[in-house]
Amino acid sequence: MKLICANFKMNLLKNDIINYLNTINEKIPKENVVFFPNELYISYFKDKNYLVGSQNIAHLEHGSLTGETSVLELKEFGISYTIIGHSERREFFNDNKYISKKVELALKNNIKIVLCVGETFEEYNKNQTFEVIKKELNEALSNNINYLNNTNLIIAYEPIWAIGTSKIPTNECIENTISFIKDYLKTEFNLDIKVLYGGSVNNQNIATLEMIKNIDGYLVGGASLDANNFLTLIDNIKN
Ligand code: PGA
Repeated sequence: MKLICANFKMNLLKNDIINYLNTINEKIPKENVVFFPNELYISYFKDKNYLVGSQNIAHLEHGSLTGETSVLELKEFGISYTIIGHSERREFFNDNKYISKKVELALKNNIKIVLCVGETFEEYNKNQTFEVIKKELNEALSNNINYLNNTNLIIAYEPIWAIGTSKIPTNECIENTISFIKDYLKTEFNLDIKVLYGGSVNNQNIATLEMIKNIDGYLVGGASLDANNFLTLIDNIKN
């Protein structure tokens, strides 16, 4: 079954969330769609029994980290997933430095990780995609081998240049990169891991993306913000 992750980022206010929930009104499958709203609204989705995740976790379990939220606090609210290493966090919050620690804390606390990896446009043009992804995977996983298994880690391949831009790589390119990630995780870490694609997934390109054979799901930003739009997108995804 394909996994679909809806990353709201810092969008939608309380009334929008309430309307959103009224519109989706139980029409979203609860076993394979995970919502990542702003932390303040996680409980709204959780209360309706949707799968929920946080967009980030702190790199410490507790202590003096103003403005961060601990994995322990999130766990108390029933979150079962977290995104780690989103390119926006890598860019604006220096996350590269903390990813290994965040991965460790999520794994130790039984929270499934959606680990984002992907190249910039410049790296893409220089054919450095695999190299960049390999480095990101090693940084995140090398110190955490003992905690990893096939179900607690999911990779999202998100070319940075495709996020929020309506530009996406060709199907061939996505398929090759997903194969590379799966093969690398198998040979280096002995893992059989789900790999999602993320970056400008929408109702215009989903039929094309659905032709990619090795894709295990999607991480959707902008196209998940409108409930009707997201319902249509889910209908267009085959399991
Ligand atoms: P997008 O965002 O679908 O709006 O491109 C995806 C993401 O950043 O996870």
